[in-house]
Order: sequence, then structure tokens, then C-alpha cells
Amino acid sequence: MLGRVALWGPEFAADPHAVYARLRDYGACAPVELAPGVNATLVTSYRAALDVLHDTETYSKDPRVWQHTIPADSQILPMMMWRPNALFNDDETHARYRQAISDSLSLIEPHELRDITHRAADTLIRDFAARGEADLIGQYALPLPLLVFNDLFSMPETHGEQFVTAVNRMFDAASPEEAARGNEEITRYLIELVTMKRGRPGQDLASWLIEHPTALNDQEVVDQLVTALSAGYEPVTNLIGNALSRMLSDPRYYRTVSSGALTATDAITDVLWNDPPLANYSVHYPRRDVDLHGTWIPAHTPVVISYAAANTCPADLPPGPRTDYGAHLAFAAGPHACPAKQPAVLIATTAIDRLTGWLCDIHLAVPYDQVAWRPGPFHRALASLPARFTPIAPDQKGTSPWTACPSSSTRQAATSQGRPLASATQDPPSA
Ligand code: HEM
Repeated sequence: MLGRVALWGPEFAADPHAVYARLRDYGACAPVELAPGVNATLVTSYRAALDVLHDTETYSKDPRVWQHTIPADSQILPMMMWRPNALFNDDETHARYRQAISDSLSLIEPHELRDITHRAADTLIRDFAARGEADLIGQYALPLPLLVFNDLFSMPETHGEQFVTAVNRMFDAASPEEAARGNEEITRYLIELVTMKRGRPGQDLASWLIEHPTALNDQEVVDQLVTALSAGYEPVTNLIGNALSRMLSDPRYYRTVSSGALTATDAITDVLWNDPPLANYSVHYPRRDVDLHGTWIPAHTPVVISYAAANTCPADLPPGPRTDYGAHLAFAAGPHACPAKQPAVLIATTAIDRLTGWLCDIHLAVPYDQVAWRPGPFHRALASLPARFTPIAPDQKGTSPWTACPSSSTRQAATSQGRPLASATQDPPSA
């Protein structure tokens, strides 16, 4: 046996599936460390994962008993500490918050979300399209979901950049002061948003939460918006990044950037099964000492579900191709399953289609095995994704951004210094 395995170091980030394979020697559950000195049980079996996710009698999502045993400055707390939202509560409290957020999310019209994502994508692509190279994480996948949220909140475009900076400051947590500053800026942005919408509601996510029959107070609305942001931002970034990295490194996808067989949807399905954006989460706490598929787990200690390991668990899955993305655990399962599956997949698919539609010869600037992954026990996140493409020139602002992509027969070499505008259309050419 291995002893307790650290999920926070570079070894895990470099090759998580090798670590899951070793952890399977323990059976359905394995002892891991989420941060230095912070122990947990990781569930790697699909069946055991489902048992925990559906068993609200035995397991609670409320971390408060455990939390008091952890140093207040532990780096793991921001992802695990109790908050007044759906994720960290059980029963009626959970139901109330979840109802408000899922009803509000259900009012987003898919065609509007597609338009919003197109706008966000075009804003970002416009910034780097003429350069012929970009970091597809830092310049695209990372800011894109935030611009989408800004638009879903009906905040002016000018607030988008401010918002991106503040959220990045908080999530990057380069120093405790920077994280606190980011947190303050986001809270200010959200309080301003809620005050504005309380006075003049519109057709947007914040207004729908404010007007929801569960009658959330202003602080609760801010808390649910923070949850939507923190639950939704990084996973969408990672879904876009992980899917793009697959598409640009695998010839079956690469050809499809302009012509071929496999699409962005295939890449996204592949990622949700094999490299889920949130790899390990759904932290549950047994209400009493329990035996989970042969592992004895003390009460009130964290049990973490490995969606990545469970999805690829050889013992539990039927053989054959897995194309049905309804059965993987990337969005968890049971009462706390992600209420934003459809919009999240729609944003990621649209963002990838838009990028590859405009920059049809885009390719990785480094070999795939040299791309860097960010360490951390919960996410599967690229640090950067350098890419090159034939530069394209922006059209005048406010109208269609660029020329249509030339067909593959007329495509210029990736080293060319730019191509002239041939025709200006609002939409990129279809692949
Ligand atoms: C690819 C993108 C996404 C992935 C992979 C993802 C995955 C997940 C997972 C695995 C959970 C369960 C977490 C747990 O039980 O501890 C969850 C819950 C949640 N997600 Fe997502 N999510 C994504 C996008 C979003 C977005 C865009 C939003 C909001 C706009 C969102 C809102 C939520 C909320 C509110 C919960 C808590 C639900 C509850 O506890 O009842 N997610 N998500």
C-alpha cells in the first residue's frame, strides 16, 4: 500500500490518472491529503460514489463540525468552509437555496446564452486575432465565462473587465492581501448589482433571484451569486481549456477545425468522462462512523468523490464506447448535482466553435505533453495553452469583426503576417 497520497502537489497534477490507478489498490476508497496535514477519504469507485451522492441520511454536506478542527488559515478552507448556499447545506435550507438558483438558471434562454457567448468570444478574439498567437487559457478560456456572467447580470460591458480582474485576483490568491482585495471588489460589484436590480429589476439572473418566491434577502442573493460564480467560473474555463487541448493535439479533431469527423461536442463529452473540469469534489461528511464499501470512515471527516476516477473506474463500467454524456459524474449526481449542466455545456461548446470558426488553422505552439497543469486537489486545470494561427485583421468596431476564414484550399501558412479582409460577416464560417 502507498500510505496517504498527496493530491495537492505537482506529481498529482502532472498525471492524476496514474495516481488514481495506484489508489484503486485500496479498493473503493483511499486515504489522501487535500493540503498539507488535511486528510480525507477519496472515493474512486463509480458505485461507491453514487451511494454517497444519493445517501442524505448517512452523509451531510455541512462541514461545520470538521471545519473547527482545521487551522483557520488553511489554504483548503476557501473551497471547503461552510457558506449560506446550496453546496454546504442539507434538507430544507439546501432546498430553498437550490430552488432559487435552479429556477433562475432555467429562465436563461439557450439562444440568448449562445448570443451572449458569441459576444464574449468576439470581444476576446478581437484582442489577439491580429497577433497570430495567444494563450488560450489566459486570453480566452479564463475571461470568457466572466464576460458571460457580466452579461447575464445585465451589467454594462465596461464592468466586465473590472469584474474579470477582481475575480482573478480572488481565485489566484497570489497573496492573502490580493485575495482579500479581490474578494472585496467582487462583493462591492455584487452589492452594487443587487441594489441596482432591487430598484429596477430586469430580465437577468440577479433580478430573477431577487424576485424568486423564496424571498431571499439582499445578503442571501449576493451569497447565491458568489456561489454561482465560484461554482461556475473555473469549471467552465477548465472545460473549454481541456476540450481545446484535446482538439488541438489529436489529428481526429485537428482536421475538424475546418473539416473532419469529430466536433467540439465530442471533445467536451470526452473531457467530461476522462478529464472532468472538477476532478474531485462533492465533499460529504458521515454523520456517524460508517463502513463505505469496506473502508471504515470516522464521523465528520471529509469524503471526497473523485468524478475523474469513478468515471474511468474499470470495475464498474460496462465495456464499449461511452458517448452518452448523461451517465458520467462530471456534474455529480443526487440532490446536489450541478443545476447548470446544460448552460455550462452550451457556453463551452459555443466558445470553442466560435474560436475555431474564426481561427480555422489554430494549432498548439508547444507539444501537448509539455502543457502545464495547475496543482490542486479539486480541479483539472491547464495553466496555459499557447497556440498559433494565421493572423486575421479586425474590422471596424461594432460591426462584424473579421473576414471569413478562407477555405482549406486557400488557407495561408500559419507563419503569414496576416490576411486581407475578403468579406465581412457577422458569423464565422461553419466548419
Ligand atoms: C463545466 C462547468 C461545470 C461543472 C463541471 C460543474 C460541476 C458541478 C459539480 C460536480 C457540482 C456538485 C458539487 C458538490 O456537490 O460539492 C456542482 C454544483 C453546483 N454547480 Fe456546477 N458545474 C459547472 C458549471 C456551473 C455553472 C455555470 C453554474 C452557475 C451558473 C454552476 C452552479 C452550481 C451550483 C449552484 C451548485 C450547487 C448545487 C447544490 O449543491 O445543490 N455550475 N457543479
